[in-house]
Amino acid sequence: SHVTWDAGAAEKGGFEHFMLKEIHEQPKALTDTLRARIKNEGKKAINLEEIGFDASWAEANRVVITACGTAWHAGVIGKYAFEHFARIPVDVDIASEYRYRNPIYNPKDIFIIISQSGETADTLAAMRMAKKSGARIIAITNVVGSTLAREADLVMYTWAGPEIAVASTKAFTTQLMCLYLIAIQFGVLRGTLNDAELGAAVEALENIPAEAEKILSDKENIQRFAYLQTNKTKVFYMGRLFDYAVSLESALKLKEISYTHSEAFAAGELKHGPIALVDESTLLVAICTQDNLFDKMDSNIKEVKARGASTLVITWDDVSYFDKTADEVFRIPRTMASLSPMLAVIPAQLYAYYVSILKGLDPDKPRNLAKSVTVE
Ligand code: G6P
Repeated sequence: SHVTWDAGAAEKGGFEHFMLKEIHEQPKALTDTLRARIKNEGKKAINLEEIGFDASWAEANRVVITACGTAWHAGVIGKYAFEHFARIPVDVDIASEYRYRNPIYNPKDIFIIISQSGETADTLAAMRMAKKSGARIIAITNVVGSTLAREADLVMYTWAGPEIAVASTKAFTTQLMCLYLIAIQFGVLRGTLNDAELGAAVEALENIPAEAEKILSDKENIQRFAYLQTNKTKVFYMGRLFDYAVSLESALKLKEISYTHSEAFAAGELKHGPIALVDESTLLVAICTQDNLFDKMDSNIKEVKARGASTLVITWDDVSYFDKTADEVFRIPRTMASLSPMLAVIPAQLYAYYVSILKGLDPDKPRNLAKSVTVE
């Protein structure tokens, strides 16, 4: 007999595409990004000393975050995380907007610049503008020695390993892990988190990789759902707060690799426009991880359903609130509501991947898109 050796498949670790491999690498990538930054000497704490994040950083009056694409979506989540854990004002902007604005600088601002590649032209331009103003810069990047890493004052690497697929997955969730670590440590240094709250947050972070693994083990459920939705030509994602930011990233994943017209909106905006587009060709994905807003989400979902759309809810595994409202419910392990994005985005990554495959497309190489946009 004769064994054929598929070098391509070997490179992809037995997965059919880099994107699926990278989605599956998230538990390990999240663990690697987290591990070196945790101390466990009697009580759990965060250790950012070796990257140079000392108390002087927490004297900032404001944090400004800029990035492009998926990294900007991470920044939007970062804003909510900093507000929640550290009670510090945050501005977040798209780098190509920021660099052409006339922004107001404050000597006590610090900047967080997020870029998987560390080479995106607009992101580097925004970083250089901020630097010129005298502000201190934290880089969150995946590429050691990248331009961003070299020019920033402080670098926090996402230990995601090389990301080959154009659509970003493990870089995104590890960017979030970095942002959460900084936000929580900011809270500690500013005195907005006590020891018990810190311990609980760190423990929740430590559980994220195993929870992500659990979602991956349920991927056939998302695959089956994608198969049932192949006739949907419009896909809308909505949520509130952290779930709104995850909606932005979910819609981007789907349009990037399946060329499906998709958009994301804050659920409260449904009535201010998006509802005009809803019909039988629409799939609505409602991301529902903020328990105190379930009733608001439920009535939004009902309004969309009444106009003929299919509805999928992504929520916690202990929630039955939406069972009667939604056509389908996909459940994720419960974590702290403020940490939900690292888990809630995974079903959306898988959904985009499966729709792309069902359409016979190559998810690793979407048309017209580049992994890194180094020209303006
Ligand atoms: C391109 C990629 C996206 C990425 C964005 C920003 O559009 O296709 O996946 O999010 O650039 O890239 P960066 O390397 O700066 O994170």
